[in-house]
Amino acid sequence: MILVTGGAGFIGSNFILDWLAATGEPLVNLDKLTYAGNLENLASLAADRSYLFVRGDINDTHLVKRLLQEHHPRAIVHFAAESHVDRSIHGPAAFMETNVVGTFRLLEAARHHWASLEAEEKVQFRFLHISTDEVYGSLEPGDVSFRETSPFMPNSPYSASKAAADHWVRAYHQTYGLPVLTTHCSNNYGPYQFPEKFIPLIILNALRGKPLPIYGDGLNIRDWLYVGDHCAALRVVLAKGTPGETYNIGGDNEKTNLDVMKMVCAVLDELRPDSLFKPHQSLLTFVKDRPGHDRRYAIDAGKISQQLDWRPEESFAGGIRKTVQWYFDHSPWLENITSGAYQQWVTTHYRPAVRQ
Ligand code: NAD
Ligand code: TYD
Repeated sequence: MILVTGGAGFIGSNFILDWLAATGEPLVNLDKLTYAGNLENLASLAADRSYLFVRGDINDTHLVKRLLQEHHPRAIVHFAAESHVDRSIHGPAAFMETNVVGTFRLLEAARHHWASLEAEEKVQFRFLHISTDEVYGSLEPGDVSFRETSPFMPNSPYSASKAAADHWVRAYHQTYGLPVLTTHCSNNYGPYQFPEKFIPLIILNALRGKPLPIYGDGLNIRDWLYVGDHCAALRVVLAKGTPGETYNIGGDNEKTNLDVMKMVCAVLDELRPDSLFKPHQSLLTFVKDRPGHDRRYAIDAGKISQQLDWRPEESFAGGIRKTVQWYFDHSPWLENITSGAYQQWVTTHYRPAVRQ
């Protein structure tokens, strides 16, 4: 079996659903259930005997050690993190606590567990750390894409905390021999993403006829990766990746934020021909730019493609259509998630710039 951390979040819950469907191998999901964790994402597993949820913090070493002893996982797949750049600007402390210290504590527990394993189990064990392309910093148009050898130049408290964690993960391989794997993926999109992130925020606001806030000139570029492709890549890295190596995972879909917004709106115009807010694109509102806003991310996924034979399958047009349709079909999910803490965030973050 495997131990997953942060499995109630966006990518983690997609990964768990994908993992159980593809492999059937049991897993334990350790998640603190911060504002970003949502057990509704995994409601379909309520009767699945291969799945166990444990509410807890990766910083709780006592709990993590107990889970490792009781369940004896062959791998740890580590998603748990504070993941939103804007929140890291408003309050960086939680990013240090979970992304840096939490990863360190998890590594320590993993190291002691690994040291106690039989020889063959030690060889098979893996610690898969999910990182981000944001550790490489920002590109200008025309610069070559990020490779695994690109220097780390993080610009936000979020990316700095992920870069720090990546260094700790690497050091545990170099120093103690812990069989780690690190992946650097680009921006994910798809079902179950919390609507503080760009694509679900645009969908949610457009559905409600609210302004679509575009930071700065809207020409920042992200390389969008459909979450289902990401989950497949993680399964491949876990199965075939070489311990100590890092792998970039990208969707080969570089788009400006303005283009993404227009594509989302075009799909909504089709899905809701009678909407009062059509054309949804007319809701576009330029707002003050994010401080330290990275201009462009682009992933060179040549290594994982050549060495592990993984490539993204979803086109951006197809992935956006599926994603908008999913949010359109899951309005109760959206209603539940956008009460309470979510409202508070919108008030804090968007108040100065956005008309309500
Ligand atoms: P998310 O914010 O949706 O989910 C994070 C999950 O971690 C939540 O369920 C939360 O409850 C849990 N968590 C937070 N702190 C915890 C703690 N101390 N102990 C246990 N659980 C805790 O994040 P996501 O978008 O699913 O991202 C997952 C991972 O992928 C993160 O490590 C993130 O840095 C990385 N990543 C995400 C993207 C993206 O586009 N979403 C891109 C690159 C990398
Ligand atoms: P986001 O989803 O926060 O991901 P990241 O910052 O990790 O790339 O943002 C994606 C892009 O969209 C980024 O360039 C910032 C921009 N953006 C907006 O223009 N408006 C918004 O309201 C948000 C949340 C993001």
